[in-house]
Amino acid sequence: MNRHLISAADLSRDEALLILDTADELARVADRPIKKLPTLRGRTVVNLFFEDSTRTRISFEAAAKRLSADVINFTVKGSSVAKGESLKDTALTLEAMGADAVVIRHSAAGAPHRLARWVRGSVVNAGDGSHEHPTQALLDAFTIRRRLGGGREAPAGAADHQADHQGEGLDGLKVTIVGDVLHSRVARSNVLLLSTLGAEVTLVAPPTLFPVELGGWPCTTGYDLDAALPKSDVVMMLRVQRERMNAAYFPSEREYSRRYGLDSSRMALLPQHAIVMHPGPMNRGVEIAAEVADGPRSTIVEQVANGVSVRMAVLYLLLSGLDPAKATTGADR
Ligand code: CP
Repeated sequence: MNRHLISAADLSRDEALLILDTADELARVADRPIKKLPTLRGRTVVNLFFEDSTRTRISFEAAAKRLSADVINFTVKGSSVAKGESLKDTALTLEAMGADAVVIRHSAAGAPHRLARWVRGSVVNAGDGSHEHPTQALLDAFTIRRRLGGGREAPAGAADHQADHQGEGLDGLKVTIVGDVLHSRVARSNVLLLSTLGAEVTLVAPPTLFPVELGGWPCTTGYDLDAALPKSDVVMMLRVQRERMNAAYFPSEREYSRRYGLDSSRMALLPQHAIVMHPGPMNRGVEIAAEVADGPRSTIVEQVANGVSVRMAVLYLLLSGLDPAKATTGADR
């Protein structure tokens, strides 16, 4: 593994599988009365969040604590960033405090890349603008593999299919990602990672919500959701990111929902075994109906829970300083 995790493109298939397999092993810790391992005792993880977050920030904190690392949570509000301190000076301050890893979320694409040039520790991208969110893609891949297996065959009526998937990718699984691709770091990271793992990814969006140039993303594209759903093993709904929209990208939310929202009638177009994903936070009633989000084929709550195991695996593999081939997470103790 590289020292940093900045892009899903940084991961080879073997490295991505190592993270998923390690997360599988570490997930067992969540079932114990005491959810803690001594693996990263003495290490310091800084959560450096310049943008709002619920799931990512809390799950990185839970992940680091379950591995016994010391955790420093930094938010812009109440910090010297509010007085104009730069990212570089903030980074050097954290460096002086002995950060072994910095988990950064920032509104500017490329901020984690810059940070990696200034600190000695590992940098993990927790979302940079509309660019990337690699640990979201990893937890999504982990969730798909647990629900549908490694892609050898998608079992009919698959419920929670938690057999041993060690070493399996997502070969041949058809994943349709729907909605605000233009503003979505989740879409880019998922296209890169899921295709590395062997899935066939299709993006579906209104023409105004595709980037002008997809720049060779390994996926196909379309505008017709109803045509894509019957061929999908997984449908991943994206949040309409109103806060990043500086223009009208569709006539109204009602019109968007009518053409690109997932409701009960559209669910009927999906194969029986197909699952529904959403990275959160959701706009209920816009990109996804409440009855679909809360329905039995939704993995939304599982995605959040799996995020802790996957982020434990990422921190463990970046920070343990051991040869992963010889390393033990301690989860078997
Ligand atoms: N999926 C995700 O990144 O959620 P948060 O913004 O709550 O971290």
